[in-house]
Amino acid sequence: MATLLGGLATSHIPAIGNALAKGWQQEPYWKPFFDGFPPIHRWLNQVRPEVVVVFYNDHGLNFFLDKMPTFAVGAAAEYHNADEGWGIPTLPPLAGCPELSWQIIRHLVAHEFDVVTCQEMLVDHACTLPLKLFWPEHEVAPVQIVPIDINTVQFPLPTARRVYKLGQAVGEAIQRWDSDKRVLVMATGGLSHQLEGERAGFINKAFDQQFLESMVSNPEWATQFSDLELVERAGTQGVELLMWLAMRAALTRGGAGVRKVHSNYHIPISNTATGVMALECLA
Ligand code: DHB
Ligand code: FE
Repeated sequence: MATLLGGLATSHIPAIGNALAKGWQQEPYWKPFFDGFPPIHRWLNQVRPEVVVVFYNDHGLNFFLDKMPTFAVGAAAEYHNADEGWGIPTLPPLAGCPELSWQIIRHLVAHEFDVVTCQEMLVDHACTLPLKLFWPEHEVAPVQIVPIDINTVQFPLPTARRVYKLGQAVGEAIQRWDSDKRVLVMATGGLSHQLEGERAGFINKAFDQQFLESMVSNPEWATQFSDLELVERAGTQGVELLMWLAMRAALTRGGAGVRKVHSNYHIPISNTATGVMALECLA
C-alpha cells in the first residue's frame, strides 16, 4: 500500500512569485516569510515524497462564476499553468498522477462525494507557487501531483465540516492505494486576509494562531464555524484556510496523530497573514 508521509501547508500570495523570480528572499520585507522554509526543505529531503495531493482553490482561471464546482479533482497526465497576469513567470507543465487521481475519485464517489472530474485542468498561482516554495531548487517540483480544487470563491461555500470529511476520505483513498509510492498532502491559501470591500486588509492574528495550534492537537476545532463565521473571523479570502483543514483531516486515518516538523507565521505579505507548516504522520 502507498505510504502517507504527512502534510504541508503554505499561503500562496501571487507577489511571492515575483519575489522568487527577482531573488528577493533575503530582502528585509521577504526574509521573515522565506525563513519559514529551510527546515521544511530539509525534512522533504529526508522523506522524499513522490506524489503530492494539492488542496487548493482556483481563483477564476479554470472555473469562473458561470460554472463553479464545490469540489473538483484533477485526473490529467499534466497540468498547464496559466496565471492572472501579475507578471509572474508561467511555469512549464506539472506532471500528474492519473492512477492516484482515479483511486481518489472512485473512493470519493463511492463515499457519496459528487466531485467534478477534470481530465484537463489549468492551474493557477495557488497550485504552482507552493510547489515552487517547497522545491525551490527545481524549475518544476520533482513530484507528480493530484490537484483538488475546493470552492472558496463563490457562495455557497462547502461547510468546514464537509471539507473535513472530504479530507478524511482523501486520506483513506491514499492509504488504500495499491502502490509503493510515497505520498504527501498539501494545502495552499490563507491565513486571514480580505482583499476587497470595507474590510480590505483585514487580518486576525489571534484567530490565525488558534487555528495553527488546532492543526497540531485539535484538528476538528475549525469545523465548529459556519462559512459566514469563518468569513467574519478570517476575512473573505481567509476562508482559504478550509484547504488546511482538508489536508489535516487527510492525516487523521489510523489515529496515530502527527508531529509538527516546523511552522512559521508572519504578517503581512501583501494583504495577507502568512502561514507555513509541515506535519509528519506518526506511525
Ligand atoms: C493575495 C492573496 C491571495 O490568497 C490571493 O489569491 C491573491 C492575492 C494578496 O494578499 O495579495
Ligand atoms: Fe488566494
